[in-house]
Amino acid sequence: MESLFGKNKERRPGGVLVLYTSKHGATQRYAERIAQPLDALVKEAAYAKADEARTYDAIVLGCPVYAGKLKGLDLLADNIQTLKDKRLVIFTCGLYDPAQEDVRANLDGQIRAALGEAADQAKVFHLRGAIRWSSLGLMERMLMKAFLSQIKKKAETERSETERLMLEAEGGALDFSDEADLDAIVRAARGGAEADA
Ligand SMILES: Cc1cc2nc3c(=O)[nH]c(=O)nc-3n(C[C@H](O)[C@H](O)[C@H](O)COP(=O)(O)O)c2cc1C
Repeated sequence: MESLFGKNKERRPGGVLVLYTSKHGATQRYAERIAQPLDALVKEAAYAKADEARTYDAIVLGCPVYAGKLKGLDLLADNIQTLKDKRLVIFTCGLYDPAQEDVRANLDGQIRAALGEAADQAKVFHLRGAIRWSSLGLMERMLMKAFLSQIKKKAETERSETERLMLEAEGGALDFSDEADLDAIVRAARGGAEADA
């Protein structure tokens, strides 16, 4: 159909859709960086529809961690029966270090609980985010304060490196963002032999 701006571009089914949830920007920045080499559409998960997601070959979903919980898995979880045969790539974004087994196990467990067996087909990556106290809302500040006071109750030797840095950065900013793993996510979204390279 012709429009005032020339021919309407009908998207052919296929390609990669990158979805994210992000209150403070780190997950969004990762999503945009991943979408670039894939020439993928990137959008907030809250504005995506299952019907739209079904037209893609691969879905990359970025989920931040707030108060121990992964956000933004709903679209996938609610429509997993019709989306499970797509290439599913999930990346999480939190402050805690995913090199720690308990941190990874907790996040993987939440994905398994949300997606069931389909989680086994998904490629999952754990990335680290950032926090800036000046950008937190009132409730978030209260939550962080309560959280930090729990950490302060721990003996210094019991605190993880992340917790030590969080205490040090209280009132300021802490940024663990690292783009080193993004190429692996891009490869996983492309699929084929590249995915395992
Ligand atoms: C209120 C609040 C609670 C948080 N709780 C956790 C947490 O339990 N575990 C964690 O690893 N990171 C936690 N974080 C850090 C966020 O995961 C980090 O800021 C991340 O970058 C959030 O993604 P976004 O920047 O896309 O919003 C919390 C951050 C906020 C603001």
